Amino acid sequence: MDRQKYFDAVKANLEPNIFYHSLALEACMGGIYDYLESQGQIGVGEPTRQDWTFAGLIHDIDYSGDTKEEHPAKTQEVLAKYNLEISPIVDQIIKDHCASTGLPKNKTGWAIRCADSLTGLIVAVALIYPSKKLADVKVSSILKRFLKEPRFAAGTRRDEVILCQDADKLNIPLEKFIEICLVSMQGISNEINL
Ligand SMILES: [Fe+2]
Repeated sequence: MDRQKYFDAVKANLEPNIFYHSLALEACMGGIYDYLESQGQIGVGEPTRQDWTFAGLIHDIDYSGDTKEEHPAKTQEVLAKYNLEISPIVDQIIKDHCASTGLPKNKTGWAIRCADSLTGLIVAVALIYPSKKLADVKVSSILKRFLKEPRFAAGTRRDEVILCQDADKLNIPLEKFIEICLVSMQGISNEINL
């Protein structure tokens, strides 16, 4: 799979903010995969790392224009405009990020469900700093705003993010999960202008 072609399609079809969010989620999915793998927690039947990151990159591609209302059902249709397709595995991961499509059945699905809206909170914390840089953001600062300031970055679905802790989902403590996503996003800070 040629990432550049999908990257170009995502960039062309989305508003800049959602495009940057897509890159952030791509990075987070890679970071979560690497952490789980280091813990021996990636099961045999789990999709590949490339499937994880790919789904993160593409997951919101239909969230614009006249396909926005039906997101994520129009993913394949939008990709077809650019002569691109995705595997049924990546398609399922993309569906798993939306509550409207039911509960995920594997770690991959829970990773995208839990991380999706956390990226927005992390960006919002970075924007508080005079530098507006992710490099200045601390895990403790995100955690505090997550737990104690529910109206801060109110679009963050805290009830979904916190499911990362469940033993039958990702089994990653919230603080660790935030750290993984922050570090992943710091790794691409230039690409997302933060
Ligand atoms: Fe998203």
